[in-house]
Amino acid sequence: MRLSIWPVLALLLLINSCKTTAPAAGKQTADPYLSQVDSVLALMTLDEKIGQMTIFTTDWESTGPTIREGYQNDIRNGSCGALFNSHTVAFTRKLQEIAVKESRLGIPLLFGYDVIHGYKTIFPIPLGESCSWDLAAIEQSAAIAAAESAAAGLHWTFAPMVDISREPRWGRVMEGAGEDPYLGSLIARARVHGFQGDNFNGTDRILACIKHFAGYGAPIAGRDYNTVDMSMRMFRDIYLPPYEAGIAAGARTIMTSFNELDGVPSTGNKWLLNDVLRKENGFTGFVVTDYTSINEMVNHGFAADDKHAGELAANAGVDMDMQGAVFQRYLKESIAAGIVSEKTVDEAVRRILRIKFELGLFKDPFKYCNEAREKAQVFSPAHLEAARDIARKSIVLLKNDNKTLPLTKGKSIALVGPLAADRENLIGAWSGAGEGDKCVSVYDALKERAAKDGFKLTHAKGCAIQGEDTSGFSEAVNIARDADIIVAVVGESKEMSGEASSRAFITLPGVQEQLIKELVATGKPVVVVLMNGRPLTFPWIAEHAAAIVETWWTGSRGGPAIGDVLYGDYNPSAKLTMTFPRDVGQVPIFYSYKNTGRPYDPNTKWNSRYQDIVNSPQYPFGFGLSYTTFTYDSLKVSGKQYSFKDTIVASVKITNTGSVKGEEIVQLYVRDLVGSVTRPVKELKGFEKVMLAPGESKNVIFKLTSKDLAFHTADMTFKAEPGAFWIMAGPDSERLQKREIRLVE
Ligand code: BGC
Repeated sequence: MRLSIWPVLALLLLINSCKTTAPAAGKQTADPYLSQVDSVLALMTLDEKIGQMTIFTTDWESTGPTIREGYQNDIRNGSCGALFNSHTVAFTRKLQEIAVKESRLGIPLLFGYDVIHGYKTIFPIPLGESCSWDLAAIEQSAAIAAAESAAAGLHWTFAPMVDISREPRWGRVMEGAGEDPYLGSLIARARVHGFQGDNFNGTDRILACIKHFAGYGAPIAGRDYNTVDMSMRMFRDIYLPPYEAGIAAGARTIMTSFNELDGVPSTGNKWLLNDVLRKENGFTGFVVTDYTSINEMVNHGFAADDKHAGELAANAGVDMDMQGAVFQRYLKESIAAGIVSEKTVDEAVRRILRIKFELGLFKDPFKYCNEAREKAQVFSPAHLEAARDIARKSIVLLKNDNKTLPLTKGKSIALVGPLAADRENLIGAWSGAGEGDKCVSVYDALKERAAKDGFKLTHAKGCAIQGEDTSGFSEAVNIARDADIIVAVVGESKEMSGEASSRAFITLPGVQEQLIKELVATGKPVVVVLMNGRPLTFPWIAEHAAAIVETWWTGSRGGPAIGDVLYGDYNPSAKLTMTFPRDVGQVPIFYSYKNTGRPYDPNTKWNSRYQDIVNSPQYPFGFGLSYTTFTYDSLKVSGKQYSFKDTIVASVKITNTGSVKGEEIVQLYVRDLVGSVTRPVKELKGFEKVMLAPGESKNVIFKLTSKDLAFHTADMTFKAEPGAFWIMAGPDSERLQKREIRLVE
């Protein structure tokens, strides 16, 4: 016999005179939901509890192997409390109705989805967006993604991905914020705020999920899912901070990672989930596994079989099993055998139910189901305009010889390359419900400009993204010969980056570079517009193209945004957040390397160098050009000696010495010259993005305290050590001025 929860629950809520005001998301004070959660828990059978600890994908979409069918029966039976890969009001309502009306207790479902860089309105890929260094813009794009997905029935995004990575071979770098923990932490916070807002009282915010906990961004050899092995100091100084920042920002959920860390898979890592996450960082939300990552502990050689894997996961602190059905199949047995305690299960279920209460789902399970809102929000003109604006802010100008850009109005253009007229790839990898056919391509955008401004625009694809076919070259070269300037749009297809998309060669695929060589041979200036999900290597192009624009995958309004940059309607201001190597042989390559005992010297042999390539990258972290020029006056530091309580004030005056207004990202780095353990040659500790009119100056001021100089010292305590430091400022991680200061006890 089925018991409808609603009368029972209504009574319970009345008895508990449920506090109607939800606390700020993530506030970890006295728990206003506890009695309500416990009232529901008291009604549940063990099977129903385990059901709440289970999430399945629907059959709509697949982001991994499907090992389970018949999820609708799972909802009915109360053996699944959350679903992913189901969205739209119509579909989520249908499933929620099954949960609420047909399951014994009627506990509402939670709907999750990978809303990584937009729901329908697609923003630049996160790596691209991070190059804006614009935290307000990044928060805004997450807020819009939340508003659209909440309007489409979703409660929860599996984002932000905050894995630091220095591995361009790894396809998932496109999902993160690059290589730096300081910037990565600020971006993690901005994205969590954007998704979650201050609370879930309204209907435009969704739960964030920090992922992948932890260290997933450092797979050996850049091969996805591969082993991760790093020192504890490296883990705590570099990889852990963005997860911690996301947790401190109030992220309500966190996802375990596929990798092992020091031999222990994250999904069975009690130290990680219990000690680091809950005890050290005070995380009160729930932990979901990555896709079948419980089961995968058998392959890792950490669990004997699925049942054992489930026990390890539950006892380590996993609350929800994604897609593995391990808890569903075995947890009851493990509890009966006394291997997992029912108390552990109760704690996990409490955390999950609590979040369903926080979201307001017990009051109204259909809170996020409103067709009119869905229609108004999805692809709204304001969202599309924001997508265009954030795309422009994410585009990095890498080269601009002889002021090739901005393009002069009226000059004829030959637009070539496999991505020039492409819409599908603009949405990039991990674009979920995004619709490539609704994107505006570069060709679409330039055609509109040509019609308006009256210049001649010709177009030829030239070649495909991949493959050896050069039969289209002659058409491309012919139109190139007749034009004043050539714009070549080349890069990767969206499938070449993202999950399970590692590459050993990070060059332009297929014959695209060959096409560019033929175009350059015409003698006409070639502007190379890149679309890709990772740093690529293209030394020949770097030398011979007149201009290079790194656009990443720019999203729904990528074409117009690129047009704005090419024509100077937007002056590029973005800077790289990942180092671009000259060759894959330099990987891993990143700006905050250590000096070594034999620092680089290209003129002698016995030092840390290659025989066949210089050590420096093609383009360093923090690099990006503008259509204007900025000069830096000399860096000033407020004193020479500081105590641990003092504030170190560094300032530098920047002047726009060009003829158009522009934004500069002024960067501040530090170096600890002698440590109880060796320290990197530089570490980003501050930045400011300043807009300056031609001739205008601004004094940019940075304030540091000893906390900004702290690291995990020889005994693993996190503190600053007295001694000498360099304070450095400049336009990127290489062109830096430095001043020395001392920190004294
Ligand atoms: C990915 C996660 C994603 C999950 C659900 C996994 O394969 O690693 O990032 O959230 O699938 O789609």
